[in-house]
Amino acid sequence: MTQTNSATSPCLIVIFGASGDLTRRKLIPALYDLFCADLLPKNFAIVGVSRSPFSDDAYREKVEPMARQFANDFAVDSWRAFVQRLHYHAADSTNSDNIPGLKQRMAELAGEHNTGDNVLYYLSVGPSLYDDIIENLGRHDMVTEGKAWCSLDRDNRAWQRIVVEKPFGSDPASAAHLNRVLGRVFEEEDTYRIDHYLGKETVQNLLVFRFANAIFEPIWNRQYIDHVQITAAETVGVEGRGGYYDSGDGGAMRDMIQSHLLQVLAVVAMEPPVSMRADDVRAEKNKSLAAARIPTPGDVPSIAVRGQYGPGTVDGDSVVGYREEEGVSKQSQTDTYAALQVYLDTWRWQGVPFCVRSGKRMPRKLTEVVITFKPTPHSLFRDLSAGADARPPNRIVINIQPDEGIHLRFEGKVPGLSEGRGAQGMKIKSVNMAFDLVQEFGGEPPQAYSTLLLDALEGDQTLFKHRDEIERAWQLVQPVLDYWDEHPQNDLPNYAAGTWGPKSADDMLGRDGRAWHKP
Ligand code: BG6
Repeated sequence: MTQTNSATSPCLIVIFGASGDLTRRKLIPALYDLFCADLLPKNFAIVGVSRSPFSDDAYREKVEPMARQFANDFAVDSWRAFVQRLHYHAADSTNSDNIPGLKQRMAELAGEHNTGDNVLYYLSVGPSLYDDIIENLGRHDMVTEGKAWCSLDRDNRAWQRIVVEKPFGSDPASAAHLNRVLGRVFEEEDTYRIDHYLGKETVQNLLVFRFANAIFEPIWNRQYIDHVQITAAETVGVEGRGGYYDSGDGGAMRDMIQSHLLQVLAVVAMEPPVSMRADDVRAEKNKSLAAARIPTPGDVPSIAVRGQYGPGTVDGDSVVGYREEEGVSKQSQTDTYAALQVYLDTWRWQGVPFCVRSGKRMPRKLTEVVITFKPTPHSLFRDLSAGADARPPNRIVINIQPDEGIHLRFEGKVPGLSEGRGAQGMKIKSVNMAFDLVQEFGGEPPQAYSTLLLDALEGDQTLFKHRDEIERAWQLVQPVLDYWDEHPQNDLPNYAAGTWGPKSADDMLGRDGRAWHKP
């Protein structure tokens, strides 16, 4: 997020997994958008690496359709200029024998484009390939922080950084293992564990909302806040990823809650950092995750809910149930919906539940944070609102996507004369004060991947996860996953596609007199 001089550092970007969906759908369009916005260094080049044989031109043609579809503003001329810097190298990078060839190609491209020794490696491959690729980079001296690796630019202090995609491990042990493998080759300050949710404008805006305003922070605590809800709902199903999603490493708790939503939670819950420097921000996020109470097996039934969608209707179309999706077992226990109540043992948050949920095949795509405040201590207007006992509490809804913005609900007097004296005669109604990001500032927010790639090129880790945050997030969800493994649920599927999830999730909040926000 901070602008540094390194923004203009020449650099070679090496993408492992170049022919994969993520690279074509997200990375290349994001880099192209940065290029069009003149935010990439003057001297840069990209080399995509994967096993399939392509010439540079064939690769450029392969990635163009998705760039047209997903880039913010596609124009033929700028695309032509961009692809002059886009190259391809066919290699199985898990095989050490192939690395000298790659190194040679990188040196040639670094010479051709005058990018010096700075390299941004991007792991956009399946997680089973991470270890070998990282070890190969170390074994072949391709990570030599502070030294030149290709003898072209010995005068400059060079950097080599790595961006690692999710899934980052599938349990606490595998995440810790991957952190150790990375740590043997890369410094922590050169390791960028990406979470695209942190790149979303409204998640960053949360930091501004909380820490650039004086009025929210004093009430951001257990004294005023009743509970917090974080929802990520999707209309899509498993989108052809049934095999992976059902493999035991997928499911909503792992795929969405452990990674994205606990990061959003950490931003909502963190203490004010002493500065916006990456280390300070990440230390505070990490502390709030460290304060999360690890559930015992006995806690799990009352604080976690697993759901799976059956057939139903989404956006007017009939869709099959999860167990009918390709690659999914007919007896699958995988959670396509998960909800979790998290408690943070801190002075600020004691007793305030953070209710987190995520589901596929829901009625709408949306991600939001809802802060519900406690009722007024004394209800002056209790008897006046059409029989209602008390007025609804104040609420702040932070829309992360779509319709990025912030809404504040409060009570207002309906204008007009009415019978009755003083408070007895007043009609009261909930009103909404809205801030709409696009209406206010114009334009569309940038893609999260553009934001994060730019930060990685600039050496800013603020919006990337520290190793400890990832391990703590796994420790928090693992008891739930273990309990679910040991206790198969015989009512799955338990929600119809196109609905807001299983009744058990409503019951979980209902037991404490709360309800999920209905967007
Ligand atoms: C990914 C998950 O990390 O995030 C997907 O693996 C999910 O299952 C996606 O669909 C959601 O991202 P977004 O930005 O569309 O909310």
